[in-house]
Amino acid sequence: MDSLAKTDAAHYNDTVVRQFSIMSVVWGVVGMLVGVFIAAQLAWPELNFGIPWLSYGRLRPLHTNAVIFAFGGSALIGTSYYVVQRTCQARLFGGPLVGFTFWGWQLVIVAAAISLPLGYTSAKEYAELEWPIDILITLVWVAYAIVFFGTIGIRKVRHIYVANWFYGAFILAVALLHLVNSAAVPAGWMKSYSAYAGVQDAMIQWWYGHNAVGFFLTAGFLGMMYYFIPKQAGRPVYSYRLSIVHFWALIFTYMWAGPHHLHYTALPDWTQSVGMVFSLILLAPSWGGMINGVMTLSGAWHKLRDDPILRFLIVSLSFYGMSTFEGPMMSIKTVNALSHYTDWTVGHVHSGALGWVGLITMGSLYYLIPRLFGREKMHSIKAIELHFWLATIGIVLYIAAMWIAGVMQGLMWRAVNADGTLTYTFVESVKATYPFYVIRVMGGLLYLTGMVMMAWNVWMTAISGRSVHVAIPAVKPAHA
Ligand code: HEM
Ligand code: HEM
Repeated sequence: MDSLAKTDAAHYNDTVVRQFSIMSVVWGVVGMLVGVFIAAQLAWPELNFGIPWLSYGRLRPLHTNAVIFAFGGSALIGTSYYVVQRTCQARLFGGPLVGFTFWGWQLVIVAAAISLPLGYTSAKEYAELEWPIDILITLVWVAYAIVFFGTIGIRKVRHIYVANWFYGAFILAVALLHLVNSAAVPAGWMKSYSAYAGVQDAMIQWWYGHNAVGFFLTAGFLGMMYYFIPKQAGRPVYSYRLSIVHFWALIFTYMWAGPHHLHYTALPDWTQSVGMVFSLILLAPSWGGMINGVMTLSGAWHKLRDDPILRFLIVSLSFYGMSTFEGPMMSIKTVNALSHYTDWTVGHVHSGALGWVGLITMGSLYYLIPRLFGREKMHSIKAIELHFWLATIGIVLYIAAMWIAGVMQGLMWRAVNADGTLTYTFVESVKATYPFYVIRVMGGLLYLTGMVMMAWNVWMTAISGRSVHVAIPAVKPAHA
């Protein structure tokens, strides 16, 4: 071990990064398994087996909570701890609070995995957990904020690297969203009523829901992008100036776009229009960020040919670009009149979720794992390669099936005969959707298989392989 490596190991707290990274992989497998299972239930409803806690309505929120908060959340917290230490050249602040964030977050996940199948829910999408768990989430999140911002406070470099801006915005915005949207009046240990009523409740829920997309599923992962793409590519960020414009434009615009989830509802019409306009504007910062990430490779495109980790990272950005083009289009009222309630929305969600969130996480973890276990590289590069193709083909099958099914459903529902009666009954549209549900199961299975291979590869890397002590110098903020 050279002297730099010694300082590195002594300097940084990587135990917690290792813990979060491993659990992200574990929860990824679990959450995607539940995803495949509910996808199969939609094709073959008998898979409910008549058991209440296996019913679709209970497992669906289990899937969304597991993939977003357990898989995504663990990856976000873990990588933010890694990145903030390297870019600030400081050990994590907060002493025992650091361990509390890990164990507390895992406790939240276990509580969700038990309470959701048992049928306890606040019935607010992506905020289903009941109030005692909400309080635990608040405690963990405050601890997380103290650790993260405390580390920035004791940094040894003046500059705050842009990845930390994105992680920081994610932490602050999620705190605000969680506190406001989860305000409720308890009516028992696992039952509560929202503090808001009627259309205000809906508006607050979708202000939360959309910003959960904007800050949990986007801003935090952009933090990952701004650190891991330059590191894996061995190039500075394409434009540091663009990254700052990207940051402010993105966080300002996201906050206003929520009403696009409530088109044609009791929400005042002008509010819906505000949501639509801000969603359209959102295309610009989203694509600015994507371009900044992709162009980081300029002059080093050849690396994509033989580096599967870089491929994960860059292809994730193409899916990010795709879903942030599609989203603004779907927010246009007349387009939404066709897409809303159909599987088109589910296709859009998963091009963002599987393509962007999934692939950027996998790429970043493949970068991290060998370094966290003091290995030269992952146990099997071939397995990473295969994982990439399984995931990509899986995503394409999933989203193409949902796009076709969604547009078909929308058109069938609105078709009318010359005498004004509906051309199709609802059940005819369900029947026509069946083959696409089967294709989705196949796509999901491929994606899940890739994730299981990743779990194996991570395990093998941790237990075997030549131990090398690589010094990981802190990144110099990259200016262009
Ligand atoms: C093997 C991979 C996956 C499969 C097979 C799968 C399958 C499904 C299914 C069947 C639904 C319910 C759709 C409906 O109710 O019509 C769903 C919903 C959802 N999934 Fe996944 N999923 C997978 C991975 C993921 C990942 C990795 C994420 C996020 C990072 C994610 C996020 C979501 C979200 C947010 C919803 C709710 C969508 C909405 O309300 O419109 N999924 N998924
Ligand atoms: C410029 C960026 C984006 C815009 C303007 C946008 C817009 C939209 C619109 C209009 C809907 C359909 C609402 C409805 O009819 O109910 C939607 C749904 C959704 N989008 Fe996006 N989207 C964007 C990016 C993304 C990304 C990157 C992700 C995931 C990582 C994502 C995740 C979701 C989810 C989870 C839903 C379903 C919410 C639900 O009904 O449960 N979106 N989005």
